[in-house]
Amino acid sequence: MRSTLSERLLFLRAFVAHPRRVGAVLPTSARAVDDMLDMADVTRAGLVVELGAGTGSHTGRVLRRLGPQARMVAFEIDPALAAAVRAKLPDPRLTVVTGSAEDVVEVLDGQRPEVVVSALPFTSLPSGVGRTILERTATVLAPGGTLLVLQYSPLIARELSRLFGTVSRRVSPRNVPPAFLYACRDPRELHTAGGAR
Ligand SMILES: C[S@@+](CC[C@H](N)C(=O)[O-])C[C@H]1O[C@@H](n2cnc3c(N)ncnc32)[C@H](O)[C@@H]1O
Repeated sequence: MRSTLSERLLFLRAFVAHPRRVGAVLPTSARAVDDMLDMADVTRAGLVVELGAGTGSHTGRVLRRLGPQARMVAFEIDPALAAAVRAKLPDPRLTVVTGSAEDVVEVLDGQRPEVVVSALPFTSLPSGVGRTILERTATVLAPGGTLLVLQYSPLIARELSRLFGTVSRRVSPRNVPPAFLYACRDPRELHTAGGAR
């Protein structure tokens, strides 16, 4: 599903208002999102969390792969973008949180996602915000879970390796510009499914 013209305009408006927070002028292409989601087992996850939903380019494609009983929580700090995702994807499995991904620990309240997806622009976010989000995400990830990260530069690679045991990487050429994709795996063995507490 390609993003529509009105989604692109909404995204561009958000970028013009907050360029460092949005970090891209266009939503991620569906093909690059698929390349990213192929790096984790979304179909078996009980809970998937998204950090920075934008206009929902990841959200919709995660929901396509997600099981009928599974759930998804998507954070988006921009109220207009969060409202657009809610309107576009009225799926009972999805909760869109209008707020910062920095609050992931409080919002999840003990639930442990097997998969977290993020296209947050870590290198242009205000100082300390990106690191805080990554550190908090590492604490909520289910044992053996995976954090998928999409970036337009490789600058975050070192920080990901510091926080996570195993980081695999690839480049998706199916986006403009090409996207750096990272799958960061929690080193503990995966023994729960279902986002259990
Ligand atoms: C590069 S865009 C990615 C959007 C979408 N996932 C995509 O790939 O097209 C980053 C998004 O993260 C949002 N964002 C930035 N900082 C955030 C934060 N602290 N918490 C939640 N969302 C944030 C921005 O508003 C923007 O929608």
